[in-house]
Amino acid sequence: MMGLFITFEGSEGSGKSTQTRALYERLHAEGYPVILVREPGGTRIGDMIRRIVLDLQHTEMDPTTETFLFSAARAQLVNEVIRPYLNQGGIVICDRYADSTYAYQGYGLGRDLVELQTLTAIATGGLRPDMSIYLDISADEGLERKRRRRNGELPKGVEWNRLDAREVAYHRRVADGYRDLIHADRQRWRSCDACLSIEELAEIIYQHVRPQLHHITRIDASGR
Ligand code: TYD
Repeated sequence: MMGLFITFEGSEGSGKSTQTRALYERLHAEGYPVILVREPGGTRIGDMIRRIVLDLQHTEMDPTTETFLFSAARAQLVNEVIRPYLNQGGIVICDRYADSTYAYQGYGLGRDLVELQTLTAIATGGLRPDMSIYLDISADEGLERKRRRRNGELPKGVEWNRLDAREVAYHRRVADGYRDLIHADRQRWRSCDACLSIEELAEIIYQHVRPQLHHITRIDASGR
């Protein structure tokens, strides 16, 4: 693989969408070939799966169905978008990836992690991130931020989905799960304090990414 595959993970309300966009814009402005995608979604078919899996009305969804749907969306995204772009030598920034399945369906819902790893290997063809950035925020603080946005108390409107609506204990298990995942693979992870200001956090993330850029050929070598 020639490109650079960076994933972002974090609980709800950790500011992932703001930070993925900021990183994308900075790398783009510097002339790097870069794309930004999110999970579930990022493809036409994946977006349809996203609507099914996050729909608040789908209260009867079986955890196995949910797990397969996330994996199906991931398979489509990897094969249609991520792998081709990496093969061309580009940078792919992905808002959530397989670690979300381990954290949410594994630690959150209690599904067997080894089974999830097998499923993930099938869905992704074994494609793993070069670097994963974790935006660290407590489950309670993250949910509070998301609730305030949803109620219009914070500027940016966000959707409130079926999974956000799960109980706080679930979100706490997810946050603990991320901690375990990071502990098991320190080399790949960069954990960042999500309570910093947007600008500070963006700068820290950029400094983590910068050393990985040497093998990426800029589209516009002048960097504009
Ligand atoms: P989204 O609105 O994109 O949330 P966020 O802004 O927090 O990323 O909704 C994605 C939801 O799907 C989020 O609650 C995490 C969950 N999810 C899983 O449970 N498993 C997965 O494999 C993925 C990719 C996401």
